[in-house]
Amino acid sequence: MAGRRTAVLISGSGSNLQALIDACEAGRCAAEMALVVSNRADAFGLERARRHGIAAEVVDHRGFASREAFEAALDAVLRQAGIELVCLAGFMRVLTSGFVEAWRDRLLNIHPSLLPAFPGLDTHARALRAGSRVHGCTVHLVRPTLDDGPILVQGVVPVLADDAVASLAARVLEVEHRCYPLALDLVARGAVRIDGDRVTLPRDARTLVLHPELADHAFQP
Ligand code: GRF
Repeated sequence: MAGRRTAVLISGSGSNLQALIDACEAGRCAAEMALVVSNRADAFGLERARRHGIAAEVVDHRGFASREAFEAALDAVLRQAGIELVCLAGFMRVLTSGFVEAWRDRLLNIHPSLLPAFPGLDTHARALRAGSRVHGCTVHLVRPTLDDGPILVQGVVPVLADDAVASLAARVLEVEHRCYPLALDLVARGAVRIDGDRVTLPRDARTLVLHPELADHAFQP
């Protein structure tokens, strides 16, 4: 059975896009990667899409007079392609509530922190400054408030004593690549019951990814 037609919105490298493509190709995710849209023509993720025979489009925000006009064009591209689900994966444009509500409960995002800690930018530097012992990522349904919305899957990594932003970001990215396919699979399979801003998942759903190095630093009574 073909999976739910899914678009991935990117602005850059697209390593999460790659993880989604790989999971779908391996049959680990019940979605069909149908379209990749970037707001930047130089995003490497577009090349990843082409390599896998996935339609790729550029909708450059700079060509539009307003955020609403940009989003109308984006929305048209998605609808023309018969898209059912949309994944934001390093898409560096803030979306207005108009777009978010139009795709309500069909729009997912990955954020590089354990929400509700550290919404917004520079999450790794902020986690280091705060002295957090754990850090990670969150895949959630998108609501109009930035980096807010019902949580689907989280990935947890240890913060190590000698970490810098780059080493911590790389460790978080490892769990990001595990979390996004899990979350999209749950939504695509219809396994997520959404009731306003609460989600209910099956008891046996895998919704937590632990980085292997966590165990080395944890006290387990
Ligand atoms: C990831 O850290 C993601 O959490 C954030 O932007 C980054 C995108 O990386 N939203 P990539 O383009 O998927 O490699």
